Amino acid sequence: MHYGGDYNPEQWNDEVWHDDVRLMREAGVTLVSLGIFAWARIQPDEHTFDFDWLDRVIDLLHENGIAVDLATATASPPAWAVTAYPGILPEDENGATYWQGSRQHYAPASPDYRRLAAALVTAIVERYHAHPAVVMWHVNNEYGCHVHRDYSDNAAIAFRAWLERRYGTIEALNAAWGTAFWSQAYTSFDQIVPPRKAPTSHNPTGLLDFKRYSSDTLLELFVMERDIIKAAGATQPVTTNFMGAFPAADYWRWAPELDLISDDNYADPHDPRSFRGAAFTRDLMRSLKPEVPWMLMEQATSAVNWRASNAPKAPGQLAALSMQAVGRGADGILFFQWRQSTRGSEKFHSAMVPHAGTGTRTWREVVELGASLKALPTLPAQQRVDGERRQRVALVFDWQNGWALENPDHPTVLDYGALVQRWYSALHRQHLMVDIVTTESDLADYPLVVLPHQYLLTDAGAANLAGYVERGGHLLVTAFSDVVDGDDAFRPGGFQVGLRGITGVTVDDFGALVAPDAPAGEPGARAVGVDAPFGPMTGELLAEELRLLDDLPGPAEVVASYTDGRLAGSPALTSRAAGLGRAHHLGTVPDDEGMRAVTEWAAGLAGVRPVVEGLSEWVEAARRGDVVSVINHGSESAEATVSGAVIASMGASVGASRASAGLPDTESTLSLQPFGWAMVRTTSNGEHPA
Ligand code: GLA
Repeated sequence: MHYGGDYNPEQWNDEVWHDDVRLMREAGVTLVSLGIFAWARIQPDEHTFDFDWLDRVIDLLHENGIAVDLATATASPPAWAVTAYPGILPEDENGATYWQGSRQHYAPASPDYRRLAAALVTAIVERYHAHPAVVMWHVNNEYGCHVHRDYSDNAAIAFRAWLERRYGTIEALNAAWGTAFWSQAYTSFDQIVPPRKAPTSHNPTGLLDFKRYSSDTLLELFVMERDIIKAAGATQPVTTNFMGAFPAADYWRWAPELDLISDDNYADPHDPRSFRGAAFTRDLMRSLKPEVPWMLMEQATSAVNWRASNAPKAPGQLAALSMQAVGRGADGILFFQWRQSTRGSEKFHSAMVPHAGTGTRTWREVVELGASLKALPTLPAQQRVDGERRQRVALVFDWQNGWALENPDHPTVLDYGALVQRWYSALHRQHLMVDIVTTESDLADYPLVVLPHQYLLTDAGAANLAGYVERGGHLLVTAFSDVVDGDDAFRPGGFQVGLRGITGVTVDDFGALVAPDAPAGEPGARAVGVDAPFGPMTGELLAEELRLLDDLPGPAEVVASYTDGRLAGSPALTSRAAGLGRAHHLGTVPDDEGMRAVTEWAAGLAGVRPVVEGLSEWVEAARRGDVVSVINHGSESAEATVSGAVIASMGASVGASRASAGLPDTESTLSLQPFGWAMVRTTSNGEHPA
């Protein structure tokens, strides 16, 4: 279990460095991410490297038993690089340049940027690959976080090459993009430009490809650096810090290239429900590489500086959110940053050592958390031990679908990222354990797959989902799914061609409703009622006109109908037995309570049970192998009854305990204060006897 943070000694003198290591030892710090923004300090000009200071810092850390996650420092090019090679700078879709004076001002496809970055990484890794302090490599920093996509001439050249690799011939591109429409046909790849400012909508497949290209190009940078590191003989794991469900990079494509997944997460303390979004991110990170524990690379000890209003964390919240990550598979808890800066954009950002000093609550909580993590026994590393999947819901999250869904010119605007998080929250409120998957993942053993708004469904994805149902799985298909293929084109023969063979329904019309948050006075219906057997439900955004197919063996049953509007009395939710499994189709987007109710219904039919029964919605429960964690994110004390032995806790007291009849386990009722948490070692892997 690692503990520590981003360490930026270039902002301080050696006297402070000595104070830093003393305090790091006091806090139980075991690992620091070093030199992330130190390019200008390491390389003062193109032909000079200055490693003397870095040698001294690394040696000092090592002498004090603190390991190093060494950065490649390529995230913020020095001023000399921009002056010498102005083509390094990226541009937006209007042709405006992102200038220096901030950070991340590089065009990912710039050959000069790549050459300079490669030289820097080579120099760093040759010097330090065998240093015993270095246990991990931190490539660049938050790829794409500020500049999601670059539209410069360098990007145009690289985009053309990417398209040529994808399509081979210009005829194939024209066919895939449907350029017969609006006279968009190309006769050469050289005619193609990034989707810069244009009179109206761009070709949607072109837009989708540009998003794919942009993610792949950032990934190319990561792979370039990783390969330099490995070629120099470094044997330490290589990572780069992800940003949760970051919209501009398809981390499913990135994950296989990383040795371990690391993530930066900044749940907003102003929002009492932000722990659910954080839990989603933790589950996503675990799911990206289930066989290796992931790391929380950055979080704040208290407030950040970059929201309009930056609330401090409440007492205990620092540990509660940290243990949420551990309970959901993390083996490292780090912060941005070690010592609060006195100058620069982030001087108001909290740190492990606050500017106000070590007499602060933040410092006390940092020291306390370090001690708790140190005392933790080893936790199961395997995230998907046999049998665990049988008590988990699989939730599909697919970046490429999000990119296609968010293109313009659709029946209505669906915010995919927000909707997936709402579906996740519906499951999280019920204390169900969730793995995040794609339509093409191995789904064997999951009792239930929830498919939120999978507009773009590849042929492989459709076949995989159908096979999963045939073999006994339950699938909840939600509105605006299976509309286009992987090229963002309608399949011949109507909609839901990919899944209709299992759901037994197709959509004749998508039935857009007015957005629930549209300005008052906007004409049209905002919501539609649904008379579900699990209680009345409100649908928003879409009320699909569903048609039950009568040419399949065994028709779909109507589970619920619309109660009002244009489609009153017609099907809103259907269910069909297919093979050994069952597929439901929901024709609308429920409100939050509706999402909770429909997923509870589907989970019940599929036989999925909560990690812990009888908990308040403010208490979350997660399972990591045989360890169950419970955390109270609410403002009032709450109880949790869990079977097993408490192995770690904070702000929790064990009340009534009793041995369950015939079992070696002890069932304990834990009383959890606000932000109190406990980890309990159970004797099972969560499978309930049939
Ligand atoms: C990101 C960056 C850090 C820092 C923090 C501040 O996570 O990687 O360098 O800017 O945000 O919250």
